[in-house]
Amino acid sequence: MAFSTQKGGVGKSTFTMLMASILHYRMGYNVAVIDCDYPQHSLALQRERDLKTVMQNEIYKRLALKQFTSINKKYTQLSNAKPKKQWIK
Ligand SMILES: Nc1ncnc2c1ncn2[C@@H]1O[C@H](COP(=O)(O)OP(=O)(O)O)[C@@H](O)[C@H]1O
Ligand SMILES: [Mg+2]
Repeated sequence: MAFSTQKGGVGKSTFTMLMASILHYRMGYNVAVIDCDYPQHSLALQRERDLKTVMQNEIYKRLALKQFTSINKKYTQLSNAKPKKQWIK
């Protein structure tokens, strides 16, 4: 699945993470997200913020542990991609 528009701020990143989360955490698929929105890579930044928030709070830590152990899955895989020149026409 790919979500793409040239216009910014229309919800590509938000919708990508929501779709990935539903497929991965609720429906049990193994999901990999590849963020091709170079150089923003807002999904990786969001992941960093989420991790920091969780690791600084005991309640969030316990909730995360409960979530990951109950579904026996870790975070969705997340990679950044940098478009090659030949991709850009
Ligand atoms: N369905 C929605 N309703 C309201 N706000 C939204 C919705 N989808 C995204 N947003 C908000 O709009 C802003 C831009 O969304 P984002 O996913 O970063 O867009 P894009 O990746 O297309 O640049 C963010 O602040 C986000 O929280
Ligand atoms: Mg985005």
